[in-house]
Amino acid sequence: MLSLILLMILSLIAFLITDELIHKLKNLFINAGLYGIDLCKTDKNKIPEALGVVSGCVFLITCFLFIPIAFGNGLMDTQHFPHNEFAEFLAALLSICCMLLLGFADDVLDLRWRYKLVLPTVASLPLLVVYYVNFNSTTFIIPIPFRSWFGVSVNIGFLYYIYMGMLAVFCTNAINILAGINGIEVGQSFVIALSIVVFDIIELQGDQYKAHTFSLHIMIPYLATTLGLLKHNWYPSRVFVGDTFCYVSGMTFAVVGILSHFSKTVLLFFLPQIINFIYSVPQLFHFIPCPRHRLPKFSAETNLLHASRSIIIKKDMNVFTKVMLQILTLLRLVDFTEDNESITINNMTLINLFLIKLGPMSEVMLTKKILLFQILCSCVAFVIRYPLATYFYDK
Ligand code: UD1
Ligand code: MG
Repeated sequence: MLSLILLMILSLIAFLITDELIHKLKNLFINAGLYGIDLCKTDKNKIPEALGVVSGCVFLITCFLFIPIAFGNGLMDTQHFPHNEFAEFLAALLSICCMLLLGFADDVLDLRWRYKLVLPTVASLPLLVVYYVNFNSTTFIIPIPFRSWFGVSVNIGFLYYIYMGMLAVFCTNAINILAGINGIEVGQSFVIALSIVVFDIIELQGDQYKAHTFSLHIMIPYLATTLGLLKHNWYPSRVFVGDTFCYVSGMTFAVVGILSHFSKTVLLFFLPQIINFIYSVPQLFHFIPCPRHRLPKFSAETNLLHASRSIIIKKDMNVFTKVMLQILTLLRLVDFTEDNESITINNMTLINLFLIKLGPMSEVMLTKKILLFQILCSCVAFVIRYPLATYFYDK
């Protein structure tokens, strides 16, 4: 308990340092050519980009400083030093650190999508090795209604490691593609992190308290440094967070999900990101053209955002695309106009879907609505995790 209080004090200092450092360093980023233009504003000022590297570094340093506090007892009595827990903590920090480096490389070099899929897989390897050595539990508990077919549990062996690697790829990229309006990347990560912290606090009373204490040791400094970044990234953004932030965040959530054994619950907190990913599949896999930016279109006359659109040339459409379009139209999930040669369709992101369903709105209002949706999904996740789970799993 004392270590958690000390961690909160450290994290408060980390918040203040992140806030101050971002303020001091942002011009250096512009001088180094790391800046972007806010596509949803009339003025075309240079906005420093990739400031997630600052919050990420402060987050990691806070975790490093916390090591002697967390393992203080073990340091006094080296014969009983908890090597397993220490290896877990170090592997977690190493994976996050790798992602920070790779994310920053992406921001500087603007890597292709295929690398964005490979990088998190590589960065999750230290984590998987520690998981193998410390737990190597590759068993899925089957929900009660399906037990007559599959039994109480299924050991999926090596596939479990593939699942965990894919979780890291999904978490990092899913945040990166629910992006493009001020404060959305940091806002969604903040809500997910807060949901995990609440879940950890509830579970501190249970028999998995060690795993949840580990999760809190990572999430509390993450939450504090993210809040420091949000202060500068909230509408109107004075800094952009870059892919660095999205990668660090995704990997942090994957790390706690894997090592604290609640990856399914972490996925429940990712409900909006899962919806956005599934909705994006036609464009991500190029069945429908995918422009470099799918963020909403800003109208300077009204100061409102509208859904952005892409053009599909009819003669380039294959049967698969046609069927997909028919299904999406039937489900009323797309808004399109057509002429003899082409179809103009909205870019398929959750952000654009909100604009189609709720009408054009200001950027800050759109951010707030998406974040409200994220909070509602976290509430749904808690209902699934607690009252509903008792119908599917033994207590
Ligand atoms: C992802 C999305 C892309 C979206 C972009 C916005 C996919 C496949 N990719 O690409 O559709 O347009 O994120 O971040 O879905 N920007 C703003 N306002 C903001 C944040 C970003 O205008 O609040 C613009 C700035 O010009 C900034 C750029 O987006 O420089 C950053 O884009 P980047 O993170 O490099 O895009 P991707 O992650 O590749
Ligand atoms: Mg990005």
